[in-house]
Amino acid sequence: MEYAISGKKVSALKTDCLILAVDEKATLLPADLPAGTSSQIRQLIKDRDFSGKKNQTLLVSQPTDLPAKRLLLVGTGDLPLAPGAFIKMLSSAVQALKASGSRNAAWLLNDTLVRDQDVLWQVREGTRAVDEALYRFDQYRSKPATGSPLTNFTFIGEGSKAALQEALRQGQAVAAGVTLCRDLGNQPPNQCYPAYLTEQARTLAKQYPALKVSVISEAQAEKMGMGAFCAVARGSEREGQIIIMEYKGAKGAPVALVGKAVTFDTGGISLKPGAGMDEMKYDMGGGASVFGAVKAVCELSLPIHLVAVVAAAENMPDGRASRPGDIVTSLSGQTVEILNTDAEGRLVLCDALTWVQQKHKPHTVIDIATLTGACVVALGSHAQAVYANDHELAKALLDAGDDSMDRGWPMPLWDDYQEQLDSPFADMANIGGPKAGSITAACFLSRFTKEVKWAHLDIAGTAWISAGKQKGATGRPVPMLTRYLMDLASS
Ligand code: BES
Ligand code: MN
Ligand code: ZN
Repeated sequence: MEYAISGKKVSALKTDCLILAVDEKATLLPADLPAGTSSQIRQLIKDRDFSGKKNQTLLVSQPTDLPAKRLLLVGTGDLPLAPGAFIKMLSSAVQALKASGSRNAAWLLNDTLVRDQDVLWQVREGTRAVDEALYRFDQYRSKPATGSPLTNFTFIGEGSKAALQEALRQGQAVAAGVTLCRDLGNQPPNQCYPAYLTEQARTLAKQYPALKVSVISEAQAEKMGMGAFCAVARGSEREGQIIIMEYKGAKGAPVALVGKAVTFDTGGISLKPGAGMDEMKYDMGGGASVFGAVKAVCELSLPIHLVAVVAAAENMPDGRASRPGDIVTSLSGQTVEILNTDAEGRLVLCDALTWVQQKHKPHTVIDIATLTGACVVALGSHAQAVYANDHELAKALLDAGDDSMDRGWPMPLWDDYQEQLDSPFADMANIGGPKAGSITAACFLSRFTKEVKWAHLDIAGTAWISAGKQKGATGRPVPMLTRYLMDLASS
């Protein structure tokens, strides 16, 4: 898709489809809309062909006195729109657009449309919304379905062209990161295994010379003392790998992202039930979001120093797999009794977290993981859980999520929960019992991040949609992470 900004007047705009947000009283119609079209719209409302209700769409061909070929009306409902409602409205418009024969389309910006957000926000988040609505993943179909012919999308608005262009550039960069994250997440697990992800990192490094990639093999991890990571990787025919992507757009200590990439989670010897197990291909969603954030950062050439680590392994039951009761020594020296081999995410993460601190001395570490089913129970699919040992960091992430419509919600890391991880035989157990499962998983990780500003995002509920037509990876939390890194770059 090509996106553009234009300051053209509606009355002079040649396009396959002009999209207009219209409320129930038609108060939003632009001042320069020719009289014929204006009264045509009012008539449609009067005749109840169009109501202006939330997300209703109506396609009008050959509008009376416009150079545009089609007019697409999309209802706003009550004004001003909540930011989330704006995104939904734009998605509805794109669905209607896809069903039309339009090859290009234009969206009229309006500064008063969205509560608390200006046109720059509308362009930035709108670009993403359009891109996400047009996303398809059909590389495994023998006959790809014919897509929509849409190739160009233009935002029409007055105001500083340079500022609008910059907002567009940011929106496109985040959209590219989201698309990469979704593509990786949707890959089937027989194609997407640790070495495949390494290959993807190398491909990125070819595209962006600022990016340096290195890999810790499973054998090296074993030698280095990553007993927790290897305890998970051991049960698979596919070699576990820790992938490191370093982007040095500034001097000084880096910020580190660490992603869980369990390319398939069978549960291991603590085998998961069969129903819905296919969804465990998305258990690399944290790692995929790290790839997405890296891509966006490279696209934007952000002036930051970033170290991105993807801990990639496959959790399989096998003759060499870990058993419940096994005790392993992590890279930090702390020992872990593996009571449940299905609590593998924290095991691959803890060694990656220790390693990145030892090797790169980051000022901040953020890990991202589809870590617990308990998180899905607690927050559903609207918010990711945000844990942090630092208030400012938590706030920065929550604010970034609010602004990019990729929201998080704060969760506690109180000491009171820590004792649930007590083990009679080792420094800690890898599970904390049935209560507060997302919190005790975060508490486990906190034991490996004591010396650094650290946050943990449990994205088990937000990284993918489980069922229905929309089943698949969502690209979250790439928008939150990218917004956070953009804010970091400008602070
Ligand atoms: N990858 C899962 C978490 C998960 C489950 C994400 C369902 C999304 C949907 C993780 O590795 C896991 O299996 N966690 C266990 C932990 C338990 C054994 C303490 C869980 O949540 O059941
Ligand atoms: Mn598991
Ligand atoms: Zn898992």
